[in-house]
Amino acid sequence: MKHTLDDITRACDDLLRNNRVHSTLDGQPFRYTRPAPSTYEQQWLWDSCFHAIALRWLDPGMAWDELRAVVAHAIPDGPDAGMLPHMTYWDGGGSILWRDPAHSAITQSALVALAAMRVHAVAPNTAALAGLYPRIAAHHSWLERRRDADGDDLAVCIHPWECGWDASPRFDPAMRSVVTDDDYSHDGLRAGRLRLASVCQSFDCDPIRLRDAGHFHVEQPDFNALRAADLEALGDMAAALDIPADAARWRVRAGAVQRAVASKLWRSAPDGGHQVVDLSGQAETPLCDGGAQQYTILFGGCATAEMARVLAGQIEAAMARTPYALTTVPPEHPAFDPDRYWRGNVWLQANWQIFHGLRRYGFDVLAQEIAQRSAELLLRSGPHEFFNPLTGAGRGAHPYSAAAVVLDMMRTLEAG
Ligand code: GLC
Repeated sequence: MKHTLDDITRACDDLLRNNRVHSTLDGQPFRYTRPAPSTYEQQWLWDSCFHAIALRWLDPGMAWDELRAVVAHAIPDGPDAGMLPHMTYWDGGGSILWRDPAHSAITQSALVALAAMRVHAVAPNTAALAGLYPRIAAHHSWLERRRDADGDDLAVCIHPWECGWDASPRFDPAMRSVVTDDDYSHDGLRAGRLRLASVCQSFDCDPIRLRDAGHFHVEQPDFNALRAADLEALGDMAAALDIPADAARWRVRAGAVQRAVASKLWRSAPDGGHQVVDLSGQAETPLCDGGAQQYTILFGGCATAEMARVLAGQIEAAMARTPYALTTVPPEHPAFDPDRYWRGNVWLQANWQIFHGLRRYGFDVLAQEIAQRSAELLLRSGPHEFFNPLTGAGRGAHPYSAAAVVLDMMRTLEAG
């Protein structure tokens, strides 16, 4: 264990140092970590949260800088005022896809409050918390105002990029407005996502108008579970900053989202068991491919004890089906493709969420098994974007910064 932890610490330190980028905004210096050289040079919202969570074990000053940078381009005005964009183009260049050269027009799962509180736990910095708080609070208020028009406490995503599971087959039916049958090649799906980015902007990213026109409009378990976890952390952040009224308000909001996930997204499965679904479009059609997104509801505390028991059983069964786990799509699914982006591979940031989710509900042994298999992938194949679950071979962008979440799993295990 000690040997593995040393190796992982060294590997993650090199990885995050090599992917570090220095920039400026209005004459002020900023630093962030790109997800990977050349493939992903910009700053991504959820990636930076994962980077900060790993960096807290290596260089807390850099962890704080990463979070300061990721809120720097919050949308200042208009209907999306307060939103943290999913991509920040520190050197410009965003106009190839977006209206604003400096940032994208959509968001991504945000764990900024959670990351900040975890950094604060090892390197307390109340001034840094105070600097971040208004922007994180504005983002959560925006989610509630703009992305929950039906008031059911589930926020909606208008693009698969928003939850970060870009090409997951669970979204295939919801991508129909921009992807034709002939398009289901890798490039076709990518072309569909690019088309959807431009469609979103032609509808001013208004979820209701997009939904009514038959475009992507999906209430997702993973996006909302991460939102719930971040709302809880935002409550803790307000308490740490001595704003008790805000702390109470965010905790109430977290509870409402947790209950909404449990009551609306937990459904009977065709095999007689249960599954966690997405709700798509005006008719709120349930979608589910049986993939690992379902287990992320544990991370957000959205499961009852009984639901957690069922999900832990499913995770155990899934881990027995492939040598490396957990696959984003189960091997028996018709779309399963172990080498194809999000269509049946292992992603370490998903494992990290499930690891912490299992621990939250007391399934520590299973969590440990996930951490160990994740560590093995990292040390055997290197920091890749994703991995083939049958062979463990690394795939996609490399060296990929979010792979460093393995360090957080190992340090968490070490702490007991
Ligand atoms: C890919 C992933 C997404 C991630 C981005 C940058 O698009 O699907 O989750 O945020 O890369 O790493």
